[in-house]
Amino acid sequence: MLEKLKKLEKQANLGLKSCNSVPDLEEWKIKFLGRKSELSLILKDIKNIDVSLKKEVGMLGNKLRIELEALYNDHLERLEPSKKEQNSSLDHFLPGREVKVGKLHPVTQTLREIKKAFSSLGFQVAEGPEIEWDKYNFDMLNIPEDHPARDMWDTMWIDEKMNSNGEKMLLRTHTSPVQARIMESQDPPIRVIVPGKCYRYEATDATHEWHFYQVEGLAVDKNLTFADLKGTLYEFAKKIFGNDTKIRFRCDYFPFVEPGVDMSIFWEGKWLEILGAGMVHPKVFEKAGYTDPNISGFAFGMGPERIAMIKHNIDDIRLFYSNDLRFLNQF
Ligand code: PHE
Repeated sequence: MLEKLKKLEKQANLGLKSCNSVPDLEEWKIKFLGRKSELSLILKDIKNIDVSLKKEVGMLGNKLRIELEALYNDHLERLEPSKKEQNSSLDHFLPGREVKVGKLHPVTQTLREIKKAFSSLGFQVAEGPEIEWDKYNFDMLNIPEDHPARDMWDTMWIDEKMNSNGEKMLLRTHTSPVQARIMESQDPPIRVIVPGKCYRYEATDATHEWHFYQVEGLAVDKNLTFADLKGTLYEFAKKIFGNDTKIRFRCDYFPFVEPGVDMSIFWEGKWLEILGAGMVHPKVFEKAGYTDPNISGFAFGMGPERIAMIKHNIDDIRLFYSNDLRFLNQF
């Protein structure tokens, strides 16, 4: 019996060498490991074997079975790697888990387009704080306390915070305070845009959010004129809305510019206002400590949400910040 097992081992090893395909191997498996294989018969018949041999035959037989199974698996893997894994608990045919690829928020995309347009016109990008002193948000911009123009910007005040002069803190209502900060800390020439978030104490509706972005612009140099303002903003409009875009300026009032205007673009049959602008007010230069009489400049401020709404035909500003993927995935 022991001889027989040794012979079987040799035969199996030899037989395996000529297995060059999966069907060959399956046949080999049936022959040496199948229910009717010699090995199975020996193991099945073990109870009838003489007691003196029983233990040894059993041990050797089982060892051989384990060895042949391992040989089978190894060989199968060599012939067809995926076949073996099919036999294991790893299922390579399960559909994969979808990888969710993120994308930029539509307002971020618009901000980047605006930055690109102005950087091609020689403007740099600056930033300022969202929590701001009263002084920069209003005073330095020629909007003294108790001036009725303060009503143009419904303000969220931060009541505990005051600096040593008793000045109050607020959430900036526009990006214009960064104009004052820049002029306070550097001399002309200046060509800068300031993207950033702003906050207003306002009820929300389809065209108003209590938080939104603005992109401020400021250019200060010797002898800049209103023609420079118009030319710059016209180039910008063409880059954002297309080369044949028409623009229109109308008089408007902002305390920190003189003259002040708003600019509209002609879009699908209508004039739509997209920004406020004007020549920097002499009082603002004075407060910033600019004394050279040849210095002049222009400033503008726009709402990127509004620009994105026009470009993408979006009718409610609140959609941008409601975090609904059905909306966001469209951009
Ligand atoms: N800061 C103004 C606003 O929020 C916009 C503006 C900026 C107007 C710069 C003129 C010049 O309404």
